[in-house]
Amino acid sequence: MKHQSITVHAPATVSNLCCGFDILGMALEEPFDKIRIEHSEHPGILIRHTDAYNLPLDPQLNIAGVALDAMNKALGIGSGFRVEIHKGIKPGSGIGSSAASAAGIVVAANELLGKPFSKTELLKYAMEGEVLASGSRHADNLAPCIFGGLVLVRDTASLDIVALKTAPVFISIVHPQIEIKTSYARQLLPKEIPLFVAVTQWANVAGLVAGFSNGDYGLISRSLHDEVAEPVRSKLIPGFSEVKSASMAGGALGGGISGSGPSIFMLSETRQIAEAVSKRMNAVFNGLGIENFAYVSPINTEGVKIVESA
Ligand code: HSE
Repeated sequence: MKHQSITVHAPATVSNLCCGFDILGMALEEPFDKIRIEHSEHPGILIRHTDAYNLPLDPQLNIAGVALDAMNKALGIGSGFRVEIHKGIKPGSGIGSSAASAAGIVVAANELLGKPFSKTELLKYAMEGEVLASGSRHADNLAPCIFGGLVLVRDTASLDIVALKTAPVFISIVHPQIEIKTSYARQLLPKEIPLFVAVTQWANVAGLVAGFSNGDYGLISRSLHDEVAEPVRSKLIPGFSEVKSASMAGGALGGGISGSGPSIFMLSETRQIAEAVSKRMNAVFNGLGIENFAYVSPINTEGVKIVESA
């Protein structure tokens, strides 16, 4: 069925999940972006932002614009669209703000046009927006944003996406108001790692996936370690180790840098523990005089959600 307009909520996502650099990601219920798209009688893409982030409106410089343009080109009929975006996810926060823009717009446009594309095809078009944002092709925020739940990107080139079984967990996020550009955080990473480090990381990825699949919280907790990115990236986040130890003392299963940071995530078995952990994370940054926002969310199993259609 074709529509006049579609509005979606595109959720925040936590990528990497410590050991799964560029291959694991999870969708959250909150925060999210609100994106509305409608047909326009004029060809091209007209973008309006109703948030305060001053993002570019030129469709070739706007993440949602680039993703929509890639999809529109594949359709080859030169359709015109009007797009309104309200970012609930602050750009540069490390919880998949760029992915939400790119994934949200392609899911919304696909619905508007009567669903000509599969989710994997949408991921391919959304990727163009992610490349504009970070200068690299990685789908560990985009895939959970589109598919929902906990997702493995088995292969980025062929977009081989695997939906993983999850045990119920609650995610606490703290977003300190410092800026870390993904492109910079990626430049810091080692180009090569010793074999014993790789072995530890592989074991933790397998342990984390098995822990989620079997509902084994002890195994999830033991596997939430990152030997590769955290040692270098955590230096960019003041208070990182204090947040981690305060969270663990508060009963969190574990956690680390969300995506390329600066947000930090922690997983907990219950909402009650996650709320307490979130307060502890908050308190560390308050103590350092760094403004910060905290969220607690269950796993979002749906991904981008259609909230209005006309
Ligand atoms: N996996 C990516 C990284 C996520 O850590 O650089 C950034 O959005």
